[in-house]
Amino acid sequence: MMDWTDRHCRYFLRLLSPSVRLYTEMITTAALLHGDSGRLLAFDAAEHPLALQLGGAEPRELARCAVLGRQAGHDEINLNVGCPSDRVQSGRFGACLMAEPALVADCVAAMKAAVDVPVTVKTRIGIDDRDSYAALADFTRRLVEAGVDGLIVHARKAWLQGLSPKQNREVPPLDYARVYRLKRDFPAQEIWLNGGVKTVADTEGHLQQVDGVMIGREAYHNPWLLAQLEQRFTGAPSPTREAVVQRLLPYVEQQLAQGVRLQQIARHMLGLYHGVPGARAWRRTLSERAHRRGAGPEVIEAALAAVTGATVSTG
Ligand SMILES: Cc1cc2nc3c(=O)[nH]c(=O)nc-3n(C[C@H](O)[C@H](O)[C@H](O)COP(=O)(O)O)c2cc1C
Repeated sequence: MMDWTDRHCRYFLRLLSPSVRLYTEMITTAALLHGDSGRLLAFDAAEHPLALQLGGAEPRELARCAVLGRQAGHDEINLNVGCPSDRVQSGRFGACLMAEPALVADCVAAMKAAVDVPVTVKTRIGIDDRDSYAALADFTRRLVEAGVDGLIVHARKAWLQGLSPKQNREVPPLDYARVYRLKRDFPAQEIWLNGGVKTVADTEGHLQQVDGVMIGREAYHNPWLLAQLEQRFTGAPSPTREAVVQRLLPYVEQQLAQGVRLQQIARHMLGLYHGVPGARAWRRTLSERAHRRGAGPEVIEAALAAVTGATVSTG
């Protein structure tokens, strides 16, 4: 998720769930081809399985970027056909590509020809007045013909004019039935549902109908959900939150030694105690101290101690 997630976030989330597939935020072909691709694609080996999400609309450029991602070690290449921001629209990619199914099919075919890992597409159920089921099914059929390995469908349409990206994640209603229907009509196609999934029970329900679920905001605000999902779907015993934090500390030290500031890592951890005693003490300690100059692992240890103190004092 652009501006929210990064490699530090993914490293932390991986400690909560060894099995979930993690996705990078969208990285544009322009940034990769003209910017510091080494930095943009860097990740820790612990983050596997990891998908690189690309933003672009030019088949040859996307193929070149897919190769860069593959060379960097990504396990899947995903094309963003769901982002409605103005900046993305001015580049004629993201959600507005739903209006150009033939072009998206060319993009998928070009990436498929270039790499040996799955090539997937993240999309919406529709855009603007192009929001019929027939249009979604036609779009899907073309991607299937182009060899797409999986489709992640955000179960709401996007309005390309008049709504901000944030509103486009909240205002258009969720229509899960449409994604379920798509799976019924394309039974051989891997189809994952995205949008508004918040609990293990939500996930279980959707998995009766589709092959997978992608979780965005809830995984960020309440990352413990990933540990709960890991336990539910693999049977692995859940670690304690404290054990997860302890396992993160060597990474923190290693990153600080390379010039990363504690705040860049700690900001992703604020929600770890979401909904349990000590949450406020944890958040407060990290938010007040992690940004200070020279802040190190001792701040995280102090936050843990604050949780324990809060837990004891609240009984
Ligand atoms: C801050 C923010 C940034 C996002 N950036 C991306 C992105 O880079 N690529 C993408 O496919 N979706 C992005 N999304 C959308 C989410 O992936 C997801 O589709 C949407 O939030 C609905 O799922 P959720 O209800 O589980 O969050 C972003 C969402 C937020 C809140």
